[in-house]
Amino acid sequence: MAEVARAGAGAIVTKSVGTEPRAGHPSPCVVELNVGLLNAMGLPNPGIDYFAGEISEAKKAGVPIIGSVFGGTEEEIAELASAMARAGADGVELNLSCPHAKGYGAEIGSTPQMVELVCRKAKHGLGVPLFAKLTPNTSDIAALARAAERGGADAVVAINTLKGMAIEPEARMPILANKVGGLSGPAIRPVGIRCVYEIFEAVKIPVVGVGGISSGMDAIEYIMAGAGAVQIGTAVWSLGLDVFSRTNKEILRFMEENGFKTIQDMVGVAHPGGH
Ligand code: SIN
Repeated sequence: MAEVARAGAGAIVTKSVGTEPRAGHPSPCVVELNVGLLNAMGLPNPGIDYFAGEISEAKKAGVPIIGSVFGGTEEEIAELASAMARAGADGVELNLSCPHAKGYGAEIGSTPQMVELVCRKAKHGLGVPLFAKLTPNTSDIAALARAAERGGADAVVAINTLKGMAIEPEARMPILANKVGGLSGPAIRPVGIRCVYEIFEAVKIPVVGVGGISSGMDAIEYIMAGAGAVQIGTAVWSLGLDVFSRTNKEILRFMEENGFKTIQDMVGVAHPGGH
């Protein structure tokens, strides 16, 4: 996390953390495809008690740390959120969207009722901003975003990975041990842009855009769709840590060349009446 901060990220979202240490799914758990990455990590993490120490270390890097949590019930998620805040996280992101971990993630976050309930419980007495990371594996992501807003989330994050599968023809079997995984990388950017665009028209709270961003122009696309901030994940794997400073420079150059003074001036300008 400290390295990512040094590389130019303005804030850091942690790996999702649960109550107990968890090994995740067996290997193979990642497949490199020509369109991106398919993962079925299965939410591996060392558990919140250990991770609390990581948060205090990471905070020394001097950028805000957003602690991501997942759980199986609204009570467990609320407890994890408050443990993250107690550990010093500057915000908490609820993973309501992992597409391949039984009983967690998207299994919790697929209905507006659950999203609202989980957000309400987690936000109660939290004391730091709450972000709800939503799944694109739904027919109506705007309804999930509205539910998060009703539940008291301070922002929504879109999108998590798209549920996918890859088969190895020679072996005649799925490549991932878990069979099903989540697709990330450039292929999902148009889906993410569409989701952010729809959410921007549905809620008043800020939207954080994520999914397939690997350049300044990709980030600007999300911002013009309505994102007030963006996250980068898979591109760190494909391009290395330089992606943060390069993206920042490209955004600044575009702003200078096109007369935008602040990021806020670009947010949502792709909507009718937005420019
Ligand atoms: C994982 O650890 O399984 C990936 C995280 C996610 O899809 O939310």
